[in-house]
Amino acid sequence: MALYSEKVMDHFRNPRNVGVIEDANGIGEVGNAKCGDIMKMYLKIEDDIIKDVKFETFGCGSAIASSSMATELIKGKPVADAMKLTNEAVAEALDGLPDYKMHCSVLAEEAIKNALDDYHKRTGQ
Ligand code: FES
Repeated sequence: MALYSEKVMDHFRNPRNVGVIEDANGIGEVGNAKCGDIMKMYLKIEDDIIKDVKFETFGCGSAIASSSMATELIKGKPVADAMKLTNEAVAEALDGLPDYKMHCSVLAEEAIKNALDDYHKRTGQ
């Protein structure tokens, strides 16, 4: 069996929503001290809806695929739904990740949660 699913390879080769949102109102950055990978998420939230989301990831292929899939899962969704996104849901949407790569999906969950925290701080919630 291939180590990585087709979906992981697809999102690694053609990551969705890569880049920066200049007027983002929620930004989150996380890193994993062990592997040294870094992920930054930008959210543009209007009327409690994630209107736009972009990411920059300096990391492994699974981290890139996880960030790409995570952005697809929350784009256009209410903030409350994005808050509930788990790394397991990201990995599942990618048709699985090898066990030792699960922490890459954790980075995506944490980056989104940090960006949502930042949004809540900025809006005094
Ligand atoms: Fe650390 Fe993938 S190896 S995020």
